[in-house]
This record gives sequence, structure tokens and C-alpha cells, in this order.
Amino acid sequence: MNYRHSFHAGNFADVFKHIFIVRILLYLCLKESPFRVIDTHAGEGFYDLNCEEANRTSEWRHGVGRLRDFKGIDKSFCDLIQPYLCCVGINENDQPLAHYPGSPMIASRFMRQQDRAIFCELHPEASRLLRRQFAHDKRIKTLHLDGYLGLGAFMPPKERRGLVLIDPPFEQKDEITRLLSSFLLAYRKWPTGIYVIWYPIKDPDFDRKLCAEFFNNNITRTLRLSLNIGGQADGLKNTGLLIVNPPFTLEDEAQELMPFLTRLLAQGEDAGYQIDWAVREGKIER
Ligand SMILES: C[S@@+](CC[C@H](N)C(=O)[O-])C[C@H]1O[C@@H](n2cnc3c(N)ncnc32)[C@H](O)[C@@H]1O
Repeated sequence: MNYRHSFHAGNFADVFKHIFIVRILLYLCLKESPFRVIDTHAGEGFYDLNCEEANRTSEWRHGVGRLRDFKGIDKSFCDLIQPYLCCVGINENDQPLAHYPGSPMIASRFMRQQDRAIFCELHPEASRLLRRQFAHDKRIKTLHLDGYLGLGAFMPPKERRGLVLIDPPFEQKDEITRLLSSFLLAYRKWPTGIYVIWYPIKDPDFDRKLCAEFFNNNITRTLRLSLNIGGQADGLKNTGLLIVNPPFTLEDEAQELMPFLTRLLAQGEDAGYQIDWAVREGKIER
């Protein structure tokens, strides 16, 4: 396992993914009844933006770094993005950004006393750091465990409401096969959970095949969002989120958020986004 998220924390892909995770957590908080968060590939939980790894790539400067300085953007965009900005420490006093929270820390900041979370991480050092972050939080269990095993083992959660984040590094050749089979196992045990699956789009055919798999396996409601930052630089430019059973408010929120987010994070004129249904109520959209 070579991947370390400390090289990438706060980059455009994190910003995109975490903004929608925050919208989903806020939706779950609308009801008093408890929810559960399961993060299968949790990472370290919290990142130092001045560490050697972050400095080596400086990816965060073109991600969360750009959000610190934006001004004069549409009001409904600002209202929707505000909870994320507060959560990552961007506030009105213009403090420099020193840290970035990973998905576990973001989840923990929106969880209430009654909510619970399980965070899995397989890399020994990342897992140690993750455990240290949450050692004193009784709502949270951190496990040094293969997240795909956790996905099958912890379904359905007793709360019967909640969010499952599946965010692998896509280092392994068979990652998508493992992801799909573990997701399908979990979905069959808990078909009403909200699932967020992050993936890199290196080949447009990959996206099409993934959606066809969802349809063929009778997954019903799946919203697909993708963000392409464009530009000439090497490296990841295009990423997607498949959101199974999204809150009914999320498609409209995405329509408000994506145009401005794309503009803020763009690295070239060819930047763009897509919002569509991979599967809507049992029908494939294309
Ligand atoms: C993209 S990072 C996660 C980022 C995190 N979800 C966030 O948004 O802040 C992927 C993480 O998965 C871990 N990982 C890789 N394979 C794993 C597996 N089979 N089970 C659990 N964790 C794994 C890596 O060590 C890495 O920390």
C-alpha cells in the first residue's frame, strides 16, 4: 500500500466530495433520530497543510486554497457552501489555512450525541493516526481493517439511517471489481442507506460501464455528479461521485453548486461538470 492521502488532502477532488458529504450530513441532521456513518477508506482524519507531503504537491492550493479567497459569487451558492467552509476552518477572519479535515473529521463535526460512526483504514500508520484522532470520542469506532470487509460486516446498522462513504485510492487493478462486489453485498443487506462512491474518471467508458453495472444489479436511485477541472497539467483532472439513495434535495443543490464550484476550481477553459441520474427508479438514463 503506497497511497498516502496527506499528499492530496484538500485538493479539488476532496473539496468536491466533501461539499456533498456535508450536504448529506446536514440532511440527516434534520431528524432527531440517530444516524450512522460508515467510512470504509477513512484515511488519517486530519491533515497538516504545511507538512512535507502537502508541500511537495501543493494540491490543496488549487483546491481548498481557492475557496478561501473567493468573493462576489451567487448568494444561494454561498448559503449552500457555508457549512463546509466553517467546517474546514475558512471564516471571516482570513486566517491562513494550516489544516484540512478528512472525511472522518468532517462527519464527526456534524454528528450529534445520538449518532455513531465506524471508520476503517488499512494502512498501519494512517490507521494509527486515525485512532489517535478519535480515541476520546465515544460515538466513534476506528478500525484497522479492510474497508470492503467492514462494508459487508456492519450492514445494516441498527439506526437504519445513515451514510456510507466508499473512497478507495484506486491503486489496485481490481479495485473496481472489489468495490462493486462489496457494495452490492452491502446494498442487498441495507437497500435504503445513502451510499457515496468516489471514483477517478480516466476513461469515459469506465463511467458508462459502472452505471450499466448499477442498472444490471437493480440498484434503483443513483445520482451521478462529475467534475472535470480541465487544463494541461498532468495528474487527476476528472472525478465522479455516485450517490445511491440521495436526499431528495440533493439534485437541486447540485444544480446550484456545480457551476460555481467548477468555475472556482477550473485549471483550464475545458473545465466542466455533469449532473445526471445513472439510474432513476429502476430506469437507466443512457
Ligand atoms: C482517498 S483516501 C481516503 C480519504 C478520506 N476518505 C477523506 O475523504 O478524507 C483512501 C484511503 O484508503 C486507504 N485504504 C486503501 N485500501 C484500503 C482498504 N482495502 N481498506 C481500508 N482502507 C484502505 C488508504 O490507506 C487511504 O488512506
